[in-house]
Amino acid sequence: MILVFGSLNIDLVAKVPIIPGSGRTVLAPSYQTHFGGKGANQAVAAARIAGPRQVQMAGRVGRDAFGDGAIANLRSNDVDTALVVRADEPTGCAFITVDEAGENAITVASGANMTANAGDLPAVLFGADTVLVLQMEVPFAQALAAARRTRSASGTVIWNLAPVPEKMTREMVTELLAATDYLIVNEHEALDGAAAIGVNASDYETAAAELAKTGNLTCIVTAGAQGALAVTSDGTRLRAPAPRVTPVDTTGAGDTFAGAFAAMIHERVPLQTALKVGCEAAARKCLTPGAQAGMPMRAQIPSLA
Ligand code: RIB
Ligand code: NA
Repeated sequence: MILVFGSLNIDLVAKVPIIPGSGRTVLAPSYQTHFGGKGANQAVAAARIAGPRQVQMAGRVGRDAFGDGAIANLRSNDVDTALVVRADEPTGCAFITVDEAGENAITVASGANMTANAGDLPAVLFGADTVLVLQMEVPFAQALAAARRTRSASGTVIWNLAPVPEKMTREMVTELLAATDYLIVNEHEALDGAAAIGVNASDYETAAAELAKTGNLTCIVTAGAQGALAVTSDGTRLRAPAPRVTPVDTTGAGDTFAGAFAAMIHERVPLQTALKVGCEAAARKCLTPGAQAGMPMRAQIPSLA
């Protein structure tokens, strides 16, 4: 089973001519409401490739209409929501601006996500077949507890270090690396992660190699149009190219990679195939506005069709 423990958000998205800096105001013609949250996005991306009864979401939403919508949306994507718990805080909400090049800036109001608790996860979930997928939008200590339980049961942990917290200590990153099998980062997250453990790398490949060695794990860097790089703990490098696309919205592209990659790891395909499928899924997602709408079904992935 693929278990995603993480955030569920509603995304409020405005298309802007330019993303405003501090003290600036820009006018957008309107806004759209989409389902989001890195956890939920990764669950949907995985389910579209892995199929029904393969993906379970665990996390928290509010007792509000956004929470109702977030749960219904996961169900309609064949994600099991039995472990999505209602909290007193409001459902998480992300305020997103997308510019004309499809690049975005995001503010996440966490709400119920910050009450997510690894204690909600029954022991029966954890086994050698469990692939746990984590991000950084629920309390770190809870994600870490879920990772450790997975590893104690000989399961596999995939941790997407996104978003990088404002205060990321050396201790946090050290604990995270020790509890992780596959670390997924973008170029900035690779450098930030390495810096947190005292390595000032000048490029993401060096950073990834240090993270892989320190954590005895495989570090995957998603580098947008440059594709993806994987560095294993012994320093072996693998690469997959990104299919050429003209993006309309990159929101959720990293999540699409992570979810598709998790589905492939669960199927125990070679790492090179998992990387390629992740890149194909992420590129396809960028053709459609919203985090989830463009996430491809299995048959739409060239390598799997
Ligand atoms: O990675 C994209 C996601 O980040 C959005 O869906 C938004 O909810 C934020 O969590
Ligand atoms: Na590790």
